[in-house]
Amino acid sequence: MDLKTTPVEKSRISEVDFESLDFGRIFSDHMFEMVWDKGSWGEPQIKPYGPISFAPALNVLHYGQAVFEGMKAYYVNKETINLFRPEDHHKRLNQSCWRMCMPETDYEIFIAGLEKLLQLDTEWVPRKKGRALYVRPLMFASEEYIAARESGRYHFYIMTCPVAAYYNEGFNPVTLTTPDKFVRAVKGGTGEVKTAGNYAASFRPAREAREKGFTQVLWLDAIENRYVEEVGTMNIFFLIGDTLVTPQLSGSVLNGITRRSVIEIAKKENLAVESRRITIDEVLEAGKKGQLREVFGSGTAAVISPVRLIHHAGQKIDIGDGNIGPLAKKMFDTITGIQYGELDDPFNWTRPVKITNKSKISQTE
Ligand SMILES: Cc1ncc(COP(=O)(O)O)c(C=O)c1O
Repeated sequence: MDLKTTPVEKSRISEVDFESLDFGRIFSDHMFEMVWDKGSWGEPQIKPYGPISFAPALNVLHYGQAVFEGMKAYYVNKETINLFRPEDHHKRLNQSCWRMCMPETDYEIFIAGLEKLLQLDTEWVPRKKGRALYVRPLMFASEEYIAARESGRYHFYIMTCPVAAYYNEGFNPVTLTTPDKFVRAVKGGTGEVKTAGNYAASFRPAREAREKGFTQVLWLDAIENRYVEEVGTMNIFFLIGDTLVTPQLSGSVLNGITRRSVIEIAKKENLAVESRRITIDEVLEAGKKGQLREVFGSGTAAVISPVRLIHHAGQKIDIGDGNIGPLAKKMFDTITGIQYGELDDPFNWTRPVKITNKSKISQTE
């Protein structure tokens, strides 16, 4: 597909210090844009990344009709950049659109936009292992009209930003606490999709958890306040005895793509893996009995995030020796090995993008 393209006159890349990348603050030269108006999508295009102008009546600012995705592209070698499970991310984006009453997009256009961005901004894909190009598709209601109903116009963007290695100085296990009075999502609500308001609503509980000295919130279900759901931007796994347990997708948990990858690896390795309801009491009980061998989160940003402590209602459980456990490490090594093209990809998760503009690759490896 030949996309209308307006390249930048001058790249900003020489201003970027790849040794100190701040997540989500530095954006590559180009972005993808497509506008939905009067019932259909307009012509997709690639243009320089930069400000867009809207009036304060912009619908999304008032009613929050916005969805997004978070995925990554990985440098393999001078000829190849790997996208990780782009079809799954696109499918989830469409599910989010459906829930939020927004127009869906075609995978062909989405992937053509992504590939074109990677061809144009190859130079922005960090070369060092651990670093990656974060890809952020975003759609929002762009009618300038303040009425609490679905918008008649939507803007869809894909922007990318080079990001640092999540673990620069070894794994940094996190601590989690369950919230006293807040809930994240309820079945039938919007918790299972990636819509902006879910995150806005999580900031107050996240701040309170930090003020109490914990890294993140461990969410419980909103009805009985007992079943573990997920963490801020991660799904959660418990290795209890020899069984890997993760909360089932209850309708209020995000269907994480890294979660799915962990489950698929566990199955391939013949490890007992259960996606089921699990109460916080069961987790604490397993901890007290010495059966809780490992706890880790899974998500695009960190891939695998070891947990060293869980706090709930005045009780604290230490997990393992405070370092990453062998299973979490194996999951991390397997997934990142596949992402960077170092390991075979028996699952067909990666989509290699062949770089045709080779002269552009000049960053040192
Ligand atoms: C609420 C929430 N849960 C879980 C995840 C992990 O999902 P994924 O593995 O697809 O990044 C994310 C990140 O997107 C998230 O925002």
